Amino acid sequence: MNLRWIQVTDHHIGRDVTTINRGYATAWALERVLTAIAAADGHGVDFLLCTGDLVDVGEDAEYAYARELYGVSAGGEAPGPLAMTRPGLAGLPAYFVPGNHDPRAAWTRNLFPCSAPAERMHLDWAVGDVQFAFLDLGTAGRAGDLRDDALAFLDAVLARGRPTVLVLHHHPVEVGIPWLDRAVPEGIDRLWRALRRGRVLGVLFGHAHTSVERCVENIPVWGLRSTCFQFGGSEQPTFLIQPLQYRVLSVDGDGLSSALFEVPLVGPAEGVAV
Ligand SMILES: [Fe+2]
Repeated sequence: MNLRWIQVTDHHIGRDVTTINRGYATAWALERVLTAIAAADGHGVDFLLCTGDLVDVGEDAEYAYARELYGVSAGGEAPGPLAMTRPGLAGLPAYFVPGNHDPRAAWTRNLFPCSAPAERMHLDWAVGDVQFAFLDLGTAGRAGDLRDDALAFLDAVLARGRPTVLVLHHHPVEVGIPWLDRAVPEGIDRLWRALRRGRVLGVLFGHAHTSVERCVENIPVWGLRSTCFQFGGSEQPTFLIQPLQYRVLSVDGDGLSSALFEVPLVGPAEGVAV
């Protein structure tokens, strides 16, 4: 069982390259990350996974520009894959799950027109021997809302007995930022108890715009810095401009491992392991 992929997250793409979000040129930032990944020959990965907040407001024009940046066309059902056409990444499959900034109707219309939008779009897919489960915790800003339907979906996926990666948008653990740490989903212990019933390799998330590495129930739980503004470790939201990051994940044998790469904001767009 060998599988490798790249996680990127929270691009908050606007209508065009001039859109600035809290001081951050989000399209330019995503360009740098994808350029860096291409420069590394895609790290030999099997696919790319974006863990939500592809755009900032949810307008069709934003999604059109996001598709242009990725070099993908809308098609098929969520979560993809959509085949990338960017130079250096042509043919790489890209999977997308929605974040709280992705209105479900706009997200499906602009990426996956064969999928019916729903208030909660729980998704599962498989690549090789590994299955992925995305639990949709809604479009509320700070805290995800973990409902019974999400846990029931997870139970059904885990019952297949296959090695599983859980994908979330919202943070399920504290991330070291007080106002976000107060917004861990209520009843999150129910999620950790559910994971005991399966073969869970790891949990990936975005939303907090910060990279963290935790371990819960002996399962690695990894958050990833956004390719957009970040948050300071303050009581109320403060906004930072830091280098960009992406994560390379590998399943070798029965375990999941992670390597974090950082792309400087100026100079050559190259990822450096951190
Ligand atoms: Fe975000």
